[in-house]
Amino acid sequence: KKRVVVFISGGGSNMVSLADACAEPGFPAEIVAVISDKPTAGGLAKAEARGIRTYVFERKAYAGKAEHENAILETLADINPDIICLAGYMRLISGDFIRPYEGRILNIHPSLLPLFPGLHTHQRAIDAGMKIAGCTVHFVTEGMDEGPIVAQAAVPVITDDTADMLAGRVLTVEHELYPMALKLLAEGKVRMERGRAEFTPADDAAIAD
Ligand code: GAR
Repeated sequence: KKRVVVFISGGGSNMVSLADACAEPGFPAEIVAVISDKPTAGGLAKAEARGIRTYVFERKAYAGKAEHENAILETLADINPDIICLAGYMRLISGDFIRPYEGRILNIHPSLLPLFPGLHTHQRAIDAGMKIAGCTVHFVTEGMDEGPIVAQAAVPVITDDTADMLAGRVLTVEHELYPMALKLLAEGKVRMERGRAEFTPADDAAIAD
């Protein structure tokens, strides 16, 4: 099984969906640790309840961004994960952090990227008059919410939607999409190559046989 570390800042519902998928027989990955930048993140207790080791690295405990990231990198080096999943981790990670894990870091963003990267994504989708919204799992590169797309799911935007209502509808499909995308990466069926997501083609010959 591939060893996965999940990064959170908040409620951790995506982390829980990944943990539940990993608990299914035959799933090709296991969550070996959860890392939060917020001691108050609700996801920490949910991880501990599942017997997953947790670590908190509060940004303000460190002099700068580099020191904060280096502390996390040291712990990661001990854990030696195959894959990192950002799941509501509300911090931009630097190129130096990404480099040792290039092509092995996934993020979920609650919009149909490349539309509406960054914050307040649901309100911006509503303000733009979008009739569909959704979520994207992508490889993490230096630009915010810019890396190659692994998977997307769509939901309708409904008349008089509030940002909260839309966020809840998107979150339900996030919980389906993220485990599916992690499975693809853990099985080696998607790889980041030359800045693109490359997928193993379905084996049509095997089916024809
Ligand atoms: C999710 O909707 C996730 O896509 C979003 O935060 C929420 C976290 O919920 N992530 C971002 O906005 C990243 N820029 P969760 O803590 O319950 O998984």
